[in-house]
Amino acid sequence: MPNSSSDFSSRPFEYPSADASLSCGQHSLTKLAKQYGTPLYVYSADQILARFMLFQQALADRSHLICYAVKANSALAILKLLADHGAGFDIVSGGELQRVLIAAPEAAGRIVFSGVGKTAEEIDQALDADIYAFNVESEAELKLLASRAAKRKRKARFALRVNPDVFAETHPYISTGLREHKFGIDIRQARRIYNEAAGNKWLTAHGVSVHIGSQIRSADPFGAAMKRVAKLVRELEIDGIAIKSVDAGGGLGIDYHATLSGPDNFNPRAKVEEYAAALETSLAGLNVQLLLEPGRFLVAQAGALLARVLYVKRNGKKTFVVTDAAMNDLIRPALYQAFHEIVPVLPRAGRSAAVDIVGPVCETGDFFARDRKLKPVEPGDLVAVLDAGAYGMAQSSNYNTRPRPAEVLLRGKKATLIRRRETIADLLGPELPLSNHSK
Ligand code: LLP
Repeated sequence: MPNSSSDFSSRPFEYPSADASLSCGQHSLTKLAKQYGTPLYVYSADQILARFMLFQQALADRSHLICYAVKANSALAILKLLADHGAGFDIVSGGELQRVLIAAPEAAGRIVFSGVGKTAEEIDQALDADIYAFNVESEAELKLLASRAAKRKRKARFALRVNPDVFAETHPYISTGLREHKFGIDIRQARRIYNEAAGNKWLTAHGVSVHIGSQIRSADPFGAAMKRVAKLVRELEIDGIAIKSVDAGGGLGIDYHATLSGPDNFNPRAKVEEYAAALETSLAGLNVQLLLEPGRFLVAQAGALLARVLYVKRNGKKTFVVTDAAMNDLIRPALYQAFHEIVPVLPRAGRSAAVDIVGPVCETGDFFARDRKLKPVEPGDLVAVLDAGAYGMAQSSNYNTRPRPAEVLLRGKKATLIRRRETIADLLGPELPLSNHSK
C-alpha cells in the first residue's frame, strides 16, 4: 500500500491514483515543478512537525529538550517552523548560530553548540547570545571557553562531549563514537576534567553529552552509550558535581530502502519509542533533563529533490538517464554510496529497465543511482529523488558553477518558496569587480 500522507508512516509522497502525478499532500509535484522550475527541493512541513512531535511524546515523562541538528537542513523557514513548536537547536558553527538567531531569536537559550573546532570568535558570539550550553570536545577548548567567558564576564554552561567507545554500525564516514575518531573526550578522562573545571568561577558544569554517529538503525548502541554516560554522572555526583542534563546526541536512522509502491515496514513512531526506551532504561533513577539532537530523522523523509530528464542515452549496454540535477545538488550517493529511491513523477506504461541516473557534472561520481530499475522515462519527464530532506541542500555546492536549486516548503494547502533559485550573478558576486590580479 502506498503511504497515506496523513499517517506519515514513511514518506509524505504518494500517487493519489494510478495515472496521477506524484504528490505531497494536496500538492502535485508536476505543478510545483512547473511553477518553480527544476531542480527543486520540496519539503513537507507537516511531516517534519509530525516527526518532531513523536520525540516530544516519547519523552513526555522526563524533562527534555529536542535540539534539532541544524546541519541536516538549515533552511531558515524550517528552523522557524521547529522553533515555533518549542524546539531547541544543535549548532556547529557561528554561521549556524546566526541562522538560528535570525530565524528564531527567542530560541537562543535553547541552543547547544557542538563541534571539535570552535574558534574564539564563535565562542564569543555564542556567549553573547547566552546559549543553553557548549558541548566541549577537548581540554584545550574548555580552557579557551573559560578565558573567553572571563573576558566577557559571562558564565559559560558546558557539557563535556565524551567519547564512550561504543561501536555503531553505520557508514565509516558518519560513525563517531570510537576512541579512534576525532570527536569528543575519552570518557576515562572526563571525571578528572570536570573536577579540575569545578574551581573555575566562569564555568558551570551543566551536562554530559555524547554523539555516537549518524544513520544508526538499532537502539542498542544508543542505550549502551547512555549507560556509560549515566555511570559518569553518578561518579560526578559523588564528587559533588551535580549534572543537570545529559545530551544523547543525534543519529537515529531512517529506512532509505522503503519503496514507494511496495510494503512500507518503517514505523517512525515505534522507532522513536524504542529509542527513547533504550535511553530511559540507561538513565533509570537519574533526575536529569534529557537533550536530543536529531537531524535526519526529522527532515530526511519529508524532502524530495525534483529533477527533469534532459537526455536518455545509450552507451553500449548501458542506458543513462541524464537529469538537470547533479551531485552538486545532492552529494550523498557520490560521497557515501548512499541509496535514494528514485521514481518518475508521472509514470509511463511499460516495463522497468536498469539504468544509471546521472547529472551533467563532469565527474564519473556524478550519479544518483547505478543499475537501478526505473520505469521508462523520456526527455522532459520529471523524476523525484526521495529521502533528500536531510544533508541534501545542506551539503550542496556550486561545483561546475551551477546555481543551487530553489526550495519549497509545503504546509497543508500552502506552498511557500523558502529559498529562491540562485542566479549566476549570486555566484560571481564575491569575485567581482574583476581587478587586474594577473598584471
Ligand atoms: N549531533 C551531532 C554532534 C552531530 O555531529 C550530528 C551529525 C547530529 C547531532 C545529527 O545527526 P543525525 O540525527 O542527523 O544523524 N552528511 C551525512 C551525515 C553526517 C552527520 C554528521 N553529524 C549524511 O548525509 O549521511
